[in-house]
Parts: sequence; structure tokens; C-alpha cells
Amino acid sequence: MKISSSIEEAGKSIKQAKYLVCLTGSGISAESGIPTFRGKDGLWKKYKVEELATYEAFTNNPELVWDWYKWRMSIIKKAQPNKGHLTLAKWERRGVLKTIITQNVDGLHQRAGNSIIIELHGNIWRGRCIECGYKVYFKDIPKEKLPRCPRCNNLLRPDVVWFGEPLDTLSLNKAYQEALQADVFLVVGTSGLVYPAAYIPIYAKENGAKIIEINPWKTTLTEIADIKISMKASDAFGLLDNLII
Ligand code: OAD
Repeated sequence: MKISSSIEEAGKSIKQAKYLVCLTGSGISAESGIPTFRGKDGLWKKYKVEELATYEAFTNNPELVWDWYKWRMSIIKKAQPNKGHLTLAKWERRGVLKTIITQNVDGLHQRAGNSIIIELHGNIWRGRCIECGYKVYFKDIPKEKLPRCPRCNNLLRPDVVWFGEPLDTLSLNKAYQEALQADVFLVVGTSGLVYPAAYIPIYAKENGAKIIEINPWKTTLTEIADIKISMKASDAFGLLDNLII
């Protein structure tokens, strides 16, 4: 299908949707200058997951793990929501979009103005006590070498999901409920390689949703997409938004 006709068809489906849900991955934030995970300059090409994004890594070397997360926070702090985030916020305000389900921890959907967001992998701007579970919301990059719990003084960890850890059950169940309700389901900027997140659009499809994928490259989810838009998210959202207004 030609790009122009896939945009047109997607625009029509989004306009007619009764319950539009969107799953986002790191690709939507790429044009804001935040690295993805598996692309050519992806984080997992340069860094070792097992040294930075597992609970074992944190217990072995909490300072190294915190340094890496503070570095990522410094990139995210400078970044601005792009046309992709901003269009999704506009669509929520207009009642076109019901929910965002995101794998991103950067908080850019909130900053763009969305309020109904399910964060499957946590949020980098939150810490969680490894002992009592107390959550701390960071206004800025923590200054301490090892941030500590204000309640019990034990170590705080970044409140994100690490490899080998389960997702928050409430968030995951809510995501499945949303997928069940969706008649149109947008998948933006994700490789579809990480489960259970990647199963959510499959579940939506199994339950009758039309799947629209926005991604310049082919992914594992491309084969279930009814409409594939092979473009960068900001370009695709720019064109789609013109058709929705
Ligand atoms: P990946 O790095 O696996 O995939 C990013 C996807 O974004 C790729 O399919 C790219 O083709 C696409 N992409 C790149 N630039 C884009 C653009 N401008 N517009 C649209 N798409 C673009 O990242 P995720 O799928 O988000 O988990 O990764 C999923 C999870 O793996 C992450 O949440 C993270 C990671 O390990 C945890 O940290 C738990």
C-alpha cells in the first residue's frame, strides 16, 4: 500500500473510531532526542542490560546503576515532546483518543498534556524504596550519589521495570481491558520484542480491533497490522492530524 493511501485509510479509521487506544514505544520519543533501545544507536547496543537493568546489577553496584539512570534523566530533562506526543495530547482533549499505553519511562506523554496514560514499565522520575516500597517523585535529577528513602532511610531504586521483573499487575490488567474495548488500536514506535507489552496489540486484534502501525521499519507486529504507515511518528501524526480536524 502506498504511504498516501495508508495515511488516508488510517485517518478515516481514527476519525470513525469509537474507542481509540494507542501503544507507544521508545520510537515516539526518538525525534525528541531520546535514544531507543535496539536501533543502530540503541542503548542495548552500547550498554549491557545485565550490568544496568536488573535487580542483581543494582545490588552489585547501585552507584553505577544510579549514574546510568541519572545520565538518562539528564537527556530526558532537556528533551521536549514532539509532534507525535503533542498530537496524541490534542486527540485526548478532543475525545478522539481514550488511552495511551506506553512502554516509555520518560514522562513525555504527561508533559505533552495527556492524562490517561498506563505506564507499563514505570517512570524514570520516580524512585521506590527497596525495603518499604515508598515512592518518591523526583522534580529534578537526584543530587545524592545514592538516593535514600525519606521514611526508612534504605536505598531508593529507579521505579522502572527491570529485566526479569514482573509488570505491575493493575497496570497490565488495565491495559488488557483497554485493548479489549478498542475498535481501533494504534501501535507507534515499538519493535514489539518485549513481552507482555507486545502481546497487548495482538490481544486487541484478537478481539476485533483494527491495528494501525506507525514505524519507519518492519517489526514483529507488522504482520498483524491492518494499516502500516512506514514513516517517522512526527511526520505521520502531522499528516493524520490534518485529516482528523
Ligand atoms: P526498541 O528500541 O526495541 O524499538 C524502537 C522502535 O522504534 C523500532 O521499531 C524503530 O524502528 C522505531 N522508531 C525509531 N525511530 C522512530 C520514529 N522516529 N518514529 C516511529 N518509530 C521509530 O524500543 P521499544 O520497543 O520501546 O523496556 O522497547 C521496548 C522495551 O525494551 C522498552 O520499554 C525497554 C526496553 O528494554 C524496559 O526497560 C523494561
